[in-house]
Amino acid sequence: MTTEIKLLQARRVWDSRGNPTVEVTVELEGGARGRAIAPAGASRGTREAVDLRDGGSRLRGLDVQGALTNVNGKIAAALKGLNAEDQAGVDAALIALDGTPLKSALGGNAMVATSLAVLHAAADAAGAPLWKHVAQTYQGTASIPLPEIQIFGGGAHAGRRVDVQDFMVMVPGAGSFDEALEVTAEIYAAAGAIMSQKGRSVGVADEGGWWPVFDSNEEALETLVAAIEAAGEKPGERVVISLDIAASEFAEDGRYRLALEDRTLSSDEMIAMLGSWINSYPIASIEDPLAEDDRAGMCAFTKAYGERVQIIGDDYLVTNAKLVAAAAEDRACNAVLIKVNQAGTVSESVETLAAAWKAGYRGIVSARSGETEDVSISHLSAGLNAGQLKVGSFTRSERMAKWNECLRIQDELGENAFVGGAPLVDTWWGKGRTAGA
Ligand code: PGA
Ligand code: ZN
Repeated sequence: MTTEIKLLQARRVWDSRGNPTVEVTVELEGGARGRAIAPAGASRGTREAVDLRDGGSRLRGLDVQGALTNVNGKIAAALKGLNAEDQAGVDAALIALDGTPLKSALGGNAMVATSLAVLHAAADAAGAPLWKHVAQTYQGTASIPLPEIQIFGGGAHAGRRVDVQDFMVMVPGAGSFDEALEVTAEIYAAAGAIMSQKGRSVGVADEGGWWPVFDSNEEALETLVAAIEAAGEKPGERVVISLDIAASEFAEDGRYRLALEDRTLSSDEMIAMLGSWINSYPIASIEDPLAEDDRAGMCAFTKAYGERVQIIGDDYLVTNAKLVAAAAEDRACNAVLIKVNQAGTVSESVETLAAAWKAGYRGIVSARSGETEDVSISHLSAGLNAGQLKVGSFTRSERMAKWNECLRIQDELGENAFVGGAPLVDTWWGKGRTAGA
């Protein structure tokens, strides 16, 4: 059969932080090929698939020779002859071969690059762009997502210069993906100009957002609002704010250590602080407001603010369908971040999105802080009809490659396929729109 997997080849390539990572090329019997690269997180959840790294002192222990050996050896042997069109079967074979809860035997990095490369090869065999192949394979509908774009980076991506990890904007009021990018470009530039004027311009963080030189987390929010205004927008109209608190990163023994402000908050105090931000700024989405093990806090936060803002579980849900189902029972979060390398395979990521929709949750396809030129996630977000895409900021080519790929997909799908503010209709922003406010 022409779509049978003929050979797999892994090579070491380098990510946006200059760290080694795994690239896999798959060739099918009929000559079709696919290629994908594993991304890498810095603020990782403890329940996500783990990357296999070599350890030791060379390359700070980060080399991936073991993962490459697994792809070229065990994985290639197990996958040879399987039908690349059967992504579920290929991923099931990978999962069975690994046999561990967190993919530690083969390595999540080896598995995700293989799984995605097979998906690309099947698309190539079908003569379809990846987004179309994904839509045809999984659910038929494709759309252009609402982008969520970082303006200031923080947390583990900026030497912990501020505690909160991502200060982002979304443009739900845009009429097209292109327009959302243009508005964001103006805000990004305005934020940079404000930082320069204040003598606080020191470069960019890991995902390309401005490196945050602020005296408090709230100063970042104030500056973001000022940048939105300087770009000629009225905050809360066309543009809203989105935050990734990544609270697990500064949680200590059930409390939250805001290093920048030299204070420690209880879970209730964290919720109160975030609530005051929601009341004071046009925030429509918050990710990981509490730590991955603060179940009571996540439930309390969702109870208090789930009607007003999108509450995304990233470290809390680690792209795991079972955790999404459990959170839905608990009424914790109302959305899930979809990171293919947290799950380890394409199929498990798709299952997680399905579990999210079943629970009435939204799904946001996301990059990692360590990225490459690989643009698979742009296609996944469009082909899975996910509705939202989070990639980092609006500089650095590992980020821009994803946004630019969405523009190409927009050309193929047509501007009308842009979801606009639809994912936010259940938030204050959407309710405000329908009320004509
Ligand atoms: P990471 O962070 O890729 O460094 O884990 C991204 C995020 O928290 O969304
Ligand atoms: Zn996150």
